[in-house]
This record gives sequence, C-alpha cells and structure tokens, in this order.
Amino acid sequence: MSIQNIITVPDEMLRKVSEPIEKIGVNEKKLIKSLYDTMYNSKGIGLAAIQIGIPKRIVVLDVSKKEDKPSPYCFINPEIKKFSKETSVYEEGCLSIPETFIEIERPRYIWLEYIDQNGKKKNIKCDGLLSTCAQHEIQHCDGKLIIDFLSKLKKEILIKKLSKKKNSSQKLIV
Ligand code: NI
Repeated sequence: MSIQNIITVPDEMLRKVSEPIEKIGVNEKKLIKSLYDTMYNSKGIGLAAIQIGIPKRIVVLDVSKKEDKPSPYCFINPEIKKFSKETSVYEEGCLSIPETFIEIERPRYIWLEYIDQNGKKKNIKCDGLLSTCAQHEIQHCDGKLIIDFLSKLKKEILIKKLSKKKNSSQKLIV
C-alpha cells in the first residue's frame, strides 16, 4: 500500500464509524506501515485508517518535534477509559480538512487502553499534545471531525468553501 491519498471533506467516507480489528495479520501490518508512510509524507502528527478510506479502528501518531527523535505510536481499537477535568487548548488542523485551524479545548490527560502492533493489550496516560492528538484521531474512528466543534452556520460556510476549492482544483488527466 505505502503512501496513500488522504480523503478530504466533504467526502462522506469520513463520517463512517470504523470497525474494531479482530486480528493483526499481514494486511493489518501493511495498513499500519501505510498509515505511518502517509502521515510522515504529509507532515502530519496523526492519521486514522478511515482517512485513507479504510474503516478500521487503527490510528498512528507522532507528536515529537522535528529536531527530536521520532516517537511513533500505533493505537489499535483505542478506548479512552478516563478523561481529566483539567483541560488544554490547541489550534488543531486535520489532514482531511485543508488550510483550516480550529481552537479546541479538550481534557489535558486521558487514560487510554489499546492493542499494539504485536497484539498486546496496553495502557497509557497521555498528556498535552499527545492527549489532544489521540482524542482527535479516535474521533475520526467515530466519524467525527474538528469542524463539528463549530456552530452549525460556521460549519456550513466552511464545508461550502472547501467543496468549491476541491472542485476547482481537480486536475484533468487525459
Ligand atoms: Ni484529522
């Protein structure tokens, strides 16, 4: 698979609820590699399988700074067990929503249960950017997008704008 096209708004695929993974076989391993390749290629810090058109509950993340060592995470069937009351605010973008940044307040800490690439059940406490990014990606698995944090009107205007842009930038292949 390797580097894949990323689906963008208003594609209805992004609204699909992803299915849990039952077994990590060759195809799942290929998918994980593809997700990492696509995420790093697009300079993103997180990517969910649904964003490349595969409705499975797998997300990859790497919130490390450019100058630091990579710090990849792959969460399979992630489940948030607990949210902190304390919150943090980030301006979030999304590889599926070009040129859009939305300030979002989310729980600062989350306690996450997931399965790793080797099929092992794991727990992790996520803080700050990792917490925000994990929540963002897990929402992709449930068909939710950051534009859902906007008012109905703002959301409609934005979707219209993005749809126009998408149509006008289509390339003709002859
Ligand atoms: Ni996103």
